[in-house]
Amino acid sequence: LTKIAQLYAQMDQYGDATVTVAGWVRSIRDMKNFGFVMLNDGSCFKDLQVVMNRESLNNYEDVAALTVGSALVITGRLALTPDRPQPFELQAETIVIEGAAQPDYPMQKKRQSREFLRTQQHLRSRTNLFRAVFRVRSVAAFAIHQFFQERGYVYVNTPIITASDAEGAGEMFRVTTIDPANPPLTEDGKVDYSKDFFGKATNLTVSGQLQGENFAMSFGDIYTFGPTFRAEDSNTRRHAAEFWMVEPEMAFCDLEGEMNVSEDMLKFVISRVMERCPDEIDMFNSFVDKGLRERLQHVATSDFARVSYTDAIKILQDAQAAGHVFEYPVEWGVDLQTEHERFLTEEHFKKPTFVTDYPAAIKAFYMRMNDDGKTVAAADCLVPGIGEIIGGSQREERLDVLQKRIEDLGMDAEQYKYYLDLRRYGTCHHAGFGLGFERLVMYLTGMDNIRDVLPHPRTVGNADF
Ligand code: 4AD
Ligand code: MG
Repeated sequence: LTKIAQLYAQMDQYGDATVTVAGWVRSIRDMKNFGFVMLNDGSCFKDLQVVMNRESLNNYEDVAALTVGSALVITGRLALTPDRPQPFELQAETIVIEGAAQPDYPMQKKRQSREFLRTQQHLRSRTNLFRAVFRVRSVAAFAIHQFFQERGYVYVNTPIITASDAEGAGEMFRVTTIDPANPPLTEDGKVDYSKDFFGKATNLTVSGQLQGENFAMSFGDIYTFGPTFRAEDSNTRRHAAEFWMVEPEMAFCDLEGEMNVSEDMLKFVISRVMERCPDEIDMFNSFVDKGLRERLQHVATSDFARVSYTDAIKILQDAQAAGHVFEYPVEWGVDLQTEHERFLTEEHFKKPTFVTDYPAAIKAFYMRMNDDGKTVAAADCLVPGIGEIIGGSQREERLDVLQKRIEDLGMDAEQYKYYLDLRRYGTCHHAGFGLGFERLVMYLTGMDNIRDVLPHPRTVGNADF
């Protein structure tokens, strides 16, 4: 089998050659004595034009009657056609119909709305738009591995099922084999999870960070890249219940070092995707977001902004004083809402922006307390169009401070005993971050809904297929 992408890449070598290609019909035209099939095999956007001759092709009638979406294996001679819009065509000698598509095939040639296509998760990746999205997703994933591997980071697979809540936010999906109709009960009538599969209550992980930190204490630099799950009741265009996160963790690294790695990684991935997916970027730039290419180019080559939370609040308050209306209040201590994040990165700095040193009260328990006793060494990276794409921090490496924080927050210290142990046996200053992979793919493609960059999105109320 020859891939259509290969024909386009090396067409001169294929002139007059006999090749076999296999793919799905994009359109068919029957012109009586001859006909055209536009075939796509997913290897590139471009279709292959196949010419069939009624006289020489024994199943011409059957092929001409097919609908879009049908799967064919075609053998023929490749003829270069330098004078025509398409540089070559395949003159079919045999066409095997492997699977005819039924006439109600839902993917039509005319452009269909992304909302409609979301109802066709199993077929939408046959459209150019979704092929482009998922190819960029694949290339970006590889680029992330490449970035870290080239720098000596060890890739760690952290568990999906866990007994601890890495973010301490209680947004977890329970994992259980207990029959809800007949649960074992404790004496006071609660579900007895000590009788559950693992002998305790367990959940799907919200982050691999805590286990990642273990490995950073043995390898120095590590990263995770895997699925994470959040039972957040946020029905927005940037929240999913199942999403992928990249979480590097670096020993002997402070907040500034952590921001440098985040920035370098984002620039590296953007550059690789622009290099490896020029046709896809072209297509997003034409049909999804007209400013995309220019913006990505700019981001890959210029410094990100860095501002403290306290200064960011001042910027937002000044904007408010000058007449900008925010729906949510702006005062020191509030968590930044998407509208605030977007104002900072889109209206004020007009580029990716790190906001650092947030109030401790709105951030996770593991972040390192600053000397002011009020803020923690956190850095969120915000980007135009999306808001937060990365959440990172220097970790609290001091046993007593961490123990007190866990206690103050009323968390169960027993759940975190391994994590606390790391602070007992050779603790060191260290930092890391979590990149929301889907948000990165949104940023790279200009797609504005997380449901359109996940192959099979799981969001509030939705877990089809
Ligand atoms: O800011 P978060 O919650 O940070 C952590 O989980 C840390 N443990 C990371 C670390 O320091 N190792 O999440 C990190 C990123 C966010 O910036 C966002 O991009 C993404 O994960 N994210 C989501 N993406 C899609 N849907 C959701 N529900 C998301 N929640 C977080
Ligand atoms: Mg965050």
